[in-house]
Amino acid sequence: MINDSKSIVFFGGAGVSTESGIPDFRSVDGLYNQKYDYPPEQILSHTFFVQNTKEFYDFYRDKMICLDAKPNKAHLKLAELEKAGKLTAVVTQNIDGLHSLAGNKKVYELHGSVHRNYCTKCGKFFGIEAITNSTGVPTCECGGVIKPDVVLYEEGLDNDTIQGAVKAIAGCDMLIIAGTSMTVYPAAGLVRYFRGKYLVEINRDPTAIDDRCDLVIHGKVGETLDKIEV
Ligand code: APR
Repeated sequence: MINDSKSIVFFGGAGVSTESGIPDFRSVDGLYNQKYDYPPEQILSHTFFVQNTKEFYDFYRDKMICLDAKPNKAHLKLAELEKAGKLTAVVTQNIDGLHSLAGNKKVYELHGSVHRNYCTKCGKFFGIEAITNSTGVPTCECGGVIKPDVVLYEEGLDNDTIQGAVKAIAGCDMLIIAGTSMTVYPAAGLVRYFRGKYLVEINRDPTAIDDRCDLVIHGKVGETLDKIEV
């Protein structure tokens, strides 16, 4: 299928980064199954960010920023496929920046990135160090609260990013969906724009789209992609 395809798009989720040591959300050992004072989905919401900003950052620094995580075999193979002109884009729900770190140029980060932060008052941009090199609520010189450019629950996705991802998915001949439970919208809904030849899923657990795929591999995405001879 890879050899027979000219414009592959990869659509990934947290399961692409677990082999880099970053836990996913809904697996047994995932973030949402760990015990906190509040449910993590509530902590990662716009309301919680506004009303409990300090607790938000305690959780966010502890659980959402994994600076020592490195690109794994999945990220590296996708960079190889893009360099070889086989892969036209990565569409990811992850905010860890590992696809760009691996060298992919065309990456649509549907849920934003921990590497982009901005002042909610003056809009000034900050890198991740504004969060990692501070404690409590990070603030701008202007006094505004700095917020990660990450889509929290109750927030909308960036329009240009969605348009770019839809265009890539609608124009590709092979869509590989990997490491995602396909349960969060609108991200999971973008698959409906696919019109190509091969719809492939690589996921440890079954998902709702298994029966629509031409090929389903229930295995580790890093190990599986590593077998591709570019
Ligand atoms: N290889 C293949 N599949 C894996 C691997 C792996 N190494 N590790 C985990 N998985 C699979 C799990 O079986 C699971 O189905 O990846 C999937 C991860 O699903 P989720 O934890 O739900 O993560 P994701 O689908 O990315 O969540 C989507 O939810 O909370 C929001 O914004 C958050 O972007 C996230 C969105």
